[in-house]
Amino acid sequence: MGKKFNDTFLKACRKEEVPYVPVWYMRQAGRYQPEYRAIRERYSFFEINENPEVCAEVTRLPVEQLGVDAAILFADIMTPLKPIGVDVEIVEGIGPVIANPVSTIHDIQKLKDLAPEKDVPYILDTIKLLREQLDVPLIGFSGAPFTLASYLIEGGPSKGYYKTKGFMYSKPEEWQALMDRLAEVTVTYLQAQIRSGAQAVQVFDSWVGALSAEDYRRYIAPTMARIFKALKETETTVPSIYFGSGSSHLLEEWNKLPVDVLSIDWRISIEQVRALGVDKALQGNLDPSLLLAPFELLKERAKEVIDQGASRPGYIFNLGHGVFPFANGETLKKLTDYVHDYTSKM
Ligand code: CP3
Repeated sequence: MGKKFNDTFLKACRKEEVPYVPVWYMRQAGRYQPEYRAIRERYSFFEINENPEVCAEVTRLPVEQLGVDAAILFADIMTPLKPIGVDVEIVEGIGPVIANPVSTIHDIQKLKDLAPEKDVPYILDTIKLLREQLDVPLIGFSGAPFTLASYLIEGGPSKGYYKTKGFMYSKPEEWQALMDRLAEVTVTYLQAQIRSGAQAVQVFDSWVGALSAEDYRRYIAPTMARIFKALKETETTVPSIYFGSGSSHLLEEWNKLPVDVLSIDWRISIEQVRALGVDKALQGNLDPSLLLAPFELLKERAKEVIDQGASRPGYIFNLGHGVFPFANGETLKKLTDYVHDYTSKM
């Protein structure tokens, strides 16, 4: 507040020149922070979500503690599904658990349209509040249809996604109806976030790497293309980011989507990504496990990532996946400072 607005992250999304490499972390707000754990003693996950003052405070915590260049709205990919009729709870140490999994066309038809102003006013209010409070850009986000469907069909976290893929292969019409419904929710939800002030949007397709490139092309790519096209038509100046874990084999497909930034995990190097012909801005991709390595090694590996990423405009430093609950906040702070120091001198 009062400070000059730091737009380094937005510039990097647009592949513009930046004074240093911007940094933020997926899951930068969460259980690794003692302050977050203290707030969680008093409120359930969704109670935090539904209380704009508290939700904005949780969103700001990592910005203030780590000095990152962007804030990400504190919510969950399940947040917009609750009001459309999904009985979901966030269970500590597990993640989202769904009491009424989807298995028939009837279950899909029962999912309501999302009316953001009526269904999730607290999210929009949190965004508006944060825009008054923050001096870094605010990233809005949503889950992507495949990843959301995996929770809806499996009833919770999964390892093999067998039921999800079984559903996709054996009930193609129902599957498409589910993708269409979830795509609509995603677009409506993100459009409302953008209208309320989100300055970039990230779509989390964390588990889509479970599909082969051929299945991704057949069953998912058209839906994702529609989502990103609709977002561009809403507001051309708001960059969109697409993330998936274990998705290196899908990058050539992703490069064809009308999305601005690809967020990649650590299983592939940035050099390899560019060698595939991927020409979009990139975000990533330090292995989060390195947060547990001796700091000298962490720094060395971060430097390797940066040297590859920052060799072209359009690069944002991040982890290859979210910060885990037993990560050390001081290490994250030192890492952030290192990225800033090292890249200011480049
Ligand atoms: O700081 C941020 O990044 C913003 C908040 C955020 C949360 N979830 C908060 C959260 C974001 C962006 C998400 C996205 C999300 N949620 C994804 C996509 C990103 C990824 O990691 O792949 C997925 C797959 C989910 C589903 C989900 N919700 C999982 C796997 C878990 C974690 C289980 C655990 O306890 O570690 C959740 C719960 C959740 N979402 C927590 C937080 C802070 C922990 C819940 C708690 O406080 O008890």
